[in-house]
Amino acid sequence: MDVVLNINRFNPEVDREPYFQKYMVAVKGHQTLLDAMLRAWRQDPGLSFRRSCRSAICGSCAVCINGVPGLACQTLIRNVAGDSGRITLEPLPRFRQVKDLVVDLEPFFESLKAVVPWLVTREDYSGNMDPEASRKLESPVTCILCGVCDAAMDVPGKVKPAALVKGLRMALDPRDSLGAARLRLMEVPPEVLKLFIRDLPDTCPKGIKG
Ligand code: SF4
Ligand code: FES
Repeated sequence: MDVVLNINRFNPEVDREPYFQKYMVAVKGHQTLLDAMLRAWRQDPGLSFRRSCRSAICGSCAVCINGVPGLACQTLIRNVAGDSGRITLEPLPRFRQVKDLVVDLEPFFESLKAVVPWLVTREDYSGNMDPEASRKLESPVTCILCGVCDAAMDVPGKVKPAALVKGLRMALDPRDSLGAARLRLMEVPPEVLKLFIRDLPDTCPKGIKG
């Protein structure tokens, strides 16, 4: 099938403002959006976007697909092309556009620092973890730091969604000496945290449960 990728383009060296450019590519419905983007890129090697693993592991292909942030390599053409065969791609909202679909990830990684994203190991840690505690960590440890949640969810305050996931994951870890103090560090009102935990699984490409 032929699909039209309607891609938001911007090169700060030559463009005053972003604009949309259309690329017609031939793909099959079971192929991924990233496959289609790579075909467009072969037509126009000046088109910029990030990708690496092509298997929803590295998090680098996050873009806004028909208005919804997601991973291009995890999105099937048949699920987004609709009857019109047209797919609109934009850079992640709430991120600064650097060039075309590439965004500035610096503030995203900065925001992670606020939650001390590593274990501060308890001195009395025995080296064992009971299976129940370990099960609670299974979902949040699958975060691939793609930034989709930061782009999709409006969480007030300085600590943004991906950092919240990291902070909650650390707070749940029985080996961590900061534990509940991490929740105070994040300065997120409990009612906002509850809404965040409720909405995250539907937003996150990995279906992470807080
Ligand atoms: S929580 Fe999900 S959406 Fe957010 S950064 Fe991690 S994997 Fe991406
Ligand atoms: S290319 Fe790695 S997550 Fe899509």
